[in-house]
Amino acid sequence: MFIEPFKGVSLSAPPLWLMRQAGRTLPEYHTIRRHFESFLDLVLNPEAAAEITLQPIKRFGFDAAIFFADILVIPFALGQHVEFVDEKGPVLGPLNFKAPHFDLSFNIEKIASLFETLSRVRKNLSPHKALIGFAGSPWTVAAYMIEGQTSKTFSRAKRFAFSNPYKFQELLDLVTESTFVYLTKQVEAGATALQLFESWGGCVPSTHMDVWVFQPTLSLVKRLKNHFPKVPIIGFPRGLGSYVLTYVQKTGVDGVSLDAGYSLETAKDLPCVLQGNLDPHILVAGGSCLERSVKKIKETLREKPFIFNLGHGLLPETPLRHIEELVCLVKDG
Ligand code: CP3
Repeated sequence: MFIEPFKGVSLSAPPLWLMRQAGRTLPEYHTIRRHFESFLDLVLNPEAAAEITLQPIKRFGFDAAIFFADILVIPFALGQHVEFVDEKGPVLGPLNFKAPHFDLSFNIEKIASLFETLSRVRKNLSPHKALIGFAGSPWTVAAYMIEGQTSKTFSRAKRFAFSNPYKFQELLDLVTESTFVYLTKQVEAGATALQLFESWGGCVPSTHMDVWVFQPTLSLVKRLKNHFPKVPIIGFPRGLGSYVLTYVQKTGVDGVSLDAGYSLETAKDLPCVLQGNLDPHILVAGGSCLERSVKKIKETLREKPFIFNLGHGLLPETPLRHIEELVCLVKDG
């Protein structure tokens, strides 16, 4: 079902999954979460992480599971201190900005348990369902590494990158190389599709879009396609607006996940599988707005190979009955 759009098939009831479907909203997630002091300990526990990955499939019957991990496991495996602080989000340790090179080296052993999570999930997931592996795109991950925390503007990261282009490029290259190895291992462990989260692409100025976003993503896609030509790769270039078409053309992704601000009429002309793009706040609101919005998205993209999703991650306050309603609305062909 999930794979059909990648064969060029458009379905009246499109495949459905939701970004950030594992964790956040589900009470059964919070029951497990309470047993672990740190989020990273939970991510690194294959038994718990596999269970959390499967929870939204059991409850809602989504067509794809996304494995329970985080984009910031790459800085962790590179030797940067990474912590997730309640109410604040991720906090990353300082890098040695003054030295000629960053003191980082990729140690895959630190995240080896994640591949066990994937193989456990694959064994317990119906073969009809996709298992999505993922990583942050290099710019987004490098931006977190320099910023040290989440931000709306990533001002510190941008200032560093503009002033130290060679050192920043070195970091982008290191993240790209590590992410390639990481995603390769995910596919070998059972991932049947991949998503690259460029969640903070919207912070990149047009002058740097090619070097920070397109080139590193292309490098990943090209090398992954060489190894795994049949594994679809979806890009999520959040906030790229008028650059989305160039992103698709320049990176070679098989599918693009659109944020809620992207026009559906314009989306019809994109030369790849489309995914998206219901505003997650509409799912929180529910009611007739939810009904009308889902109908509109389905009708507009009816002729396109299309996967139904949100425009960004599921919000923690989303009522579960609204998700159930969404499943009915999407699946009602
Ligand atoms: O999609 C899924 O449900 C699978 C797991 C997943 C998580 N993070 C678990 C998580 C995925 C795909 C991610 C991706 C991720 N992580 C992104 C890209 C997607 C996006 O939302 O733009 C980004 C930017 C991050 C970085 C990150 N991790 C932040 C900013 C935070 C704190 C706030 C938040 O989003 O919850 C995290 C922590 C995190 N990652 C939690 C979960 C379930 C919450 C931690 C907890 O329960 O203590």
